[in-house]
Amino acid sequence: MAKLKTKWVCQTCGYETFSYLGRCPDCGNFSTFCEEVVQSAVELKSNSSPSLILNSALRAKRIDEVSSDEKIRIKTDMEEFDRVLGGGFVLGSLVLLAGDPGIGKSTLILQTCRNITKDGKTALYVCAEESEQQVKLRAKRLKVEGKNLYVTSQNCLEELLVQLDEIKPDFLVVDSIQAVFSSQISSSSGSVSQIRECTNILMRIAKQKNITTVIIGHVTKEGNIAGPKVLEHMVDTVVNFEGDRYKSYRVLRSIKNRFGTTMEVGVFNMEDDGLSEVKNPSELFLNPFEENNCGCSTIATLEGTRVLLLEIQSLTGTTPYPNPRRVARGIEYNRLLQILAVLEKRVGINLSKQDVYVNVIGGIDIDEPAVDLGVALAVISCARDIPLKRKTVIAGEIGLSGEIRAVDNIEKRLKEAQKLGFECAIIPKTQKDLNLSKFDLKIVQVAKLTDAIKAAFEK
Ligand code: TYD
Ligand code: MG
Repeated sequence: MAKLKTKWVCQTCGYETFSYLGRCPDCGNFSTFCEEVVQSAVELKSNSSPSLILNSALRAKRIDEVSSDEKIRIKTDMEEFDRVLGGGFVLGSLVLLAGDPGIGKSTLILQTCRNITKDGKTALYVCAEESEQQVKLRAKRLKVEGKNLYVTSQNCLEELLVQLDEIKPDFLVVDSIQAVFSSQISSSSGSVSQIRECTNILMRIAKQKNITTVIIGHVTKEGNIAGPKVLEHMVDTVVNFEGDRYKSYRVLRSIKNRFGTTMEVGVFNMEDDGLSEVKNPSELFLNPFEENNCGCSTIATLEGTRVLLLEIQSLTGTTPYPNPRRVARGIEYNRLLQILAVLEKRVGINLSKQDVYVNVIGGIDIDEPAVDLGVALAVISCARDIPLKRKTVIAGEIGLSGEIRAVDNIEKRLKEAQKLGFECAIIPKTQKDLNLSKFDLKIVQVAKLTDAIKAAFEK
């Protein structure tokens, strides 16, 4: 097959050249050139011939003629994964599964293949990074059997398309997109243009042949999905697989989903025989010690539709520096600064000569304001060296005048706390739609931060 003609295009200003340049002569930015395929005039013309457009299903319809059936979903048989996807893989969609090397992406997707092929569907697993034997070894560990799962280590996309026609799978996995290449482009596999072109082709195939496709992508040191940002725009769904490599649990989070919410998370535990679902993650993250330590509080936060009870830890100490340090892990940095400012102004706790560290246990990022009160109480507990009341769960947003503001879904949060054996809850007074008689908890409703402090530290 003849090589395609390519050009180099600056991704910032669109300047074009026929060879790679380190710095764009037009806009002056460095390392912004990407290789792109030059389409000849003949090709462009044939692509847009009127007969082709008329025959296609993409012809304009009146909106009331468009069928509104929920697209058929393929269930992964793993509740945690299905929920993150919005109820399973949508037929013919392209999903990008991204994560650090070694986090367990291949394991998760092989388990998914195992479950999907159980009820007669066919899957093709392209292990472009590993040999078929290596995949077989992993498959043995994961107890993958079945005649409907095909494996190939072919990493040339054009050859793969031939195999696709033969096998006609319902489900296709490309592990990883950085390791496959199209022979139409001269740059090496993993380069921006290869990744983009291969994804483009896979997207077209997925839609045309209704093959649900998952592409696996590595994450760079900076935490971006390797390859251009366009990769995220091209696919239907982007799912991130995260976690601490030295701990066994992993968090699956959707960061883009054309067919569902991006609020959901799924939690898994890496074990000897693969990933197991963690149905109740709060138990995993909570402190097993009965006694509360100084500087610790437990909050009830919402991750998508699910309540997570998480422990917040805080440490304060006299600073040796002119500017005290503020470190926030798991909560937004500016949120911490705001909470500290309210503590100083409305409660009179002076932390201007103290370093403050706040950490959410479990490596979970919380971005809802309901975390405020828990953080404030953890900081006060450490600064004053007194532990919070035992088995107390906290939820509430702090306003700038020190008032505690209502949070969403309070009954759901309280229910979860009760289920896990908590005895007391400190929540906002302004909370509506709350039926206290439903709960077997001591519920303290507070209007001001000062009231919350009283409630949290009284014996
Ligand atoms: P892998 O799925 O190969 O990661 P990725 O594809 O994201 O690079 O899994 C990597 C780690 O998972 C590896 O260090 C070993 C561990 N692992 C288990 O602990 N149990 C298992 O059953 C399997 C298959 C892997
Ligand atoms: Mg892998």
